[in-house]
Amino acid sequence: MTVRLRGAMASLPSYVPGRKIPGAIVLASNESPYGLLPSVADVLAERTGTVSRYPDMASSELIATIADHHGVEPERVAVGAGSVEVCGQLAAAVLDDGAEAVFGWRAFEAYPIITAVAGGTAVKVPLDAQHVHDVDAMIAAVTDRTRLVFLCNPNNPTGTAVGGAELRRLLLGVPEDVLVVIDEAYREYVDPAAVPDAFELLGDRPNVAITRTFSKAYALAGLRVGYCLASPEVAAAVRKCQVPFSVSGLAQAAALAALGEREEVRRRAKLTVAERDRVRAGLVDAGFDVPLSQANFVWLPLGDASQEFAAACMAERIIVRPFAGDGVRVTIGTESENDAFLAVATAWQQA
Ligand SMILES: Cc1ncc(COP(=O)(O)O)c(C=O)c1O
Repeated sequence: MTVRLRGAMASLPSYVPGRKIPGAIVLASNESPYGLLPSVADVLAERTGTVSRYPDMASSELIATIADHHGVEPERVAVGAGSVEVCGQLAAAVLDDGAEAVFGWRAFEAYPIITAVAGGTAVKVPLDAQHVHDVDAMIAAVTDRTRLVFLCNPNNPTGTAVGGAELRRLLLGVPEDVLVVIDEAYREYVDPAAVPDAFELLGDRPNVAITRTFSKAYALAGLRVGYCLASPEVAAAVRKCQVPFSVSGLAQAAALAALGEREEVRRRAKLTVAERDRVRAGLVDAGFDVPLSQANFVWLPLGDASQEFAAACMAERIIVRPFAGDGVRVTIGTESENDAFLAVATAWQQA
């Protein structure tokens, strides 16, 4: 007799992480290329002795500090082991059997997995011809079975973002009992004049939740801390759906230290944004089509040539992230890493 797995397991895609090869240039996982923030390194060295004990399950100090950072009550904050877990907690909080989650496609590849694991049905809405979320098509895809809308802004993997008018239109077009999750994992790289902070714009709406992460600009991808800002009711449900103790004590202490280094985080994000714009200009000069990015990566919509392009990079020990048949996402690295990538990309285009 074989174990009776849930039906969803047969079609559940596996998350494909960016590859890691010792000595290679890794531009595949949208990580910070600048390493640990200085005070985080100190805190980790001081705190290793604490790991024989369970951490504060409520992450009280971290939640209070995040709340203070955003100027909200702590009741409106919930944390998880990375914002991917928080997205899963949000989905678990609203998706009943067969309920629908609407999101753009292609967007963050965890959304279909999270939706299926929570027992929901994914409704994928194609991006528009400029690789941007088609807000009107997303509104049109909402039915009486919809319980959740994910908007990845800026979008992974295309880097494109929608502005304030589209954000407002989406909220007006979605029923008030449907949760709209605006995933701002790359917020620190955005031009705030073009893309408003979703919480400042829409945080007063009870059906809006915003997710943020310490994995990207705060350089803590390996420690796993993310959070959401939501109504007190939604945040309470999200806390109930967290795996107990999923945010370790080291992760809580590191995130607290990282929040104290916002100046350095801003300085590093500025470097990445300048490099992103330089890389994009170099790629456009070389003949690539590259959508404008508001994130720490660029998207090359190479279609069927995507795998071949990634293989050409790999041959030069540069790891990028291909999505077969669709495109290639390239994380912005240090100046010299970006130069190495531009040289390979230009040679590939000229071959
Ligand atoms: C759009 C988006 N959301 C969430 C995440 C999850 O990040 P983490 O779980 O490390 O916070 C990622 C990571 O790549 C992402 O691209």
